[in-house]
Amino acid sequence: MTTTVSQDILPTGQSLDAARVEGERTYALDRAHVFHSWSAQEQITPMTILASEGSYVWDGAGNRLLDFSSQLVNTNVGHQHPKVVAAIQEQAAKLCTIAPQYANDVRSEAARLIAERTPGDLNKVFFTNGGADANEHAVRMARLHTGRYKVLSRYRSYHGGTDTAINLTGDPRRWPNDYGNSGVVHFHGPFLYRSQFHAENEQQETERALEHLDQLIRLEGPNSIAAIVLESVPGTAGIMVPPPGYLAGVREICDRYGIVFIADEVMSGFGRTGKWFAIDHFDVVPDLITFAKGVNSGYVPLGGVAISEKIAATFANRPYPGGLTYSGHPLATAAAVATINAMEDERIVENAARIGAEILGPGLRGLADRHPSIGEVRGLGVFWAIELVADRATKEPLAPYGASSPAMNEVIAACKAGGLLPFANFNRIHAVPPCTVTEAEAREGLAILDTVLDIADAHRAS
Ligand SMILES: Cc1ncc(COP(=O)(O)O)c(C=O)c1O
Repeated sequence: MTTTVSQDILPTGQSLDAARVEGERTYALDRAHVFHSWSAQEQITPMTILASEGSYVWDGAGNRLLDFSSQLVNTNVGHQHPKVVAAIQEQAAKLCTIAPQYANDVRSEAARLIAERTPGDLNKVFFTNGGADANEHAVRMARLHTGRYKVLSRYRSYHGGTDTAINLTGDPRRWPNDYGNSGVVHFHGPFLYRSQFHAENEQQETERALEHLDQLIRLEGPNSIAAIVLESVPGTAGIMVPPPGYLAGVREICDRYGIVFIADEVMSGFGRTGKWFAIDHFDVVPDLITFAKGVNSGYVPLGGVAISEKIAATFANRPYPGGLTYSGHPLATAAAVATINAMEDERIVENAARIGAEILGPGLRGLADRHPSIGEVRGLGVFWAIELVADRATKEPLAPYGASSPAMNEVIAACKAGGLLPFANFNRIHAVPPCTVTEAEAREGLAILDTVLDIADAHRAS
């Protein structure tokens, strides 16, 4: 196992010794006062982060870790990108905050830059504070536009932690929040590796998943359904790239029944898959796109809904009944302007595509050749999942759905000890570094995974 590199001085300029002392205080105060998301508070030991730069973070002991998680898959331009940091600083000096009813230069410019990059005629942008509230508002818009209430979303998905968004979510985090009255109905999306449709190839998976969706709509009552909400490529649920024809088929079904198609690009958008939006791989134009995370790399909270002309027209002479104090906050939208311009100038989206096609894709498939614990490798750009299994033939996962396991905990701990911060979910390790990741960094991450996967191999059923 490689040991991680420590430095005497952090990228912040602080000495490591001083930072460590500060880190100890940080941790003690965290445990005394901070209430963490999704957690049993007494059972967690949050990693202290002292500094970050590019593709790396430094933990409380001063160890440098390669961030193959991009935190929560949001630091698309890497940590502390100097142009984005400078834009936030300049904006803070100029105008920290202004209420949403006023026109503001950076909000206007961010909306223009986003509208220019979204497909089709999604020309208006409603800004929110993050991804969950973007989905809340997209659903509200769809319900008011159609005059219908029910919403469909897939199992194996994540759409956010607020009330409607968590009910759209198709993972176990919904269960304790689901009172059965949200108006959301779930369906099975395509996932050939664990096909619900007994499909043997992508074409069958597409046809059968579309047939299932169409059947579900006819049984639920097409005139009661406002929207279908889908991650263009489901992220946290496992990076299942939809097979050819599936999203085009969903578009056709939505058109047939007058249903609004909402593409959730909160995780998959802004370069993550090697295109501005994941849906661009499929040549499909949804009615609404929700975004957050990569829009400004999460440097300041920001999300939003990109809205088609048709849906925007619904609210041309009728007030849209929704808003937020911080809609289009200047610090957040200044960060978005700087992020999008940096991505354009530095060809960051192209870098994500190239790293995926030339390094991560082939590298991870190479790991699958060497490590029998890998059941499947899938992804695009800098958006990859490896599915770890106890048995390749039965596909028994290395941790059950919705849970962890001692084997997975060992694998994750070994990643960290080896200098890699992974994104892990159930039986999967995701390789989701910043879109700015270099070839050498991507190879470094693959080498650490190669070592660590011996542990997963040892946990296979004999
Ligand atoms: C696809 C998707 N939608 C929505 C969200 C929720 O975004 P936020 O945490 O900013 O509310 C997430 C967060 O991970 C996500 O991955």
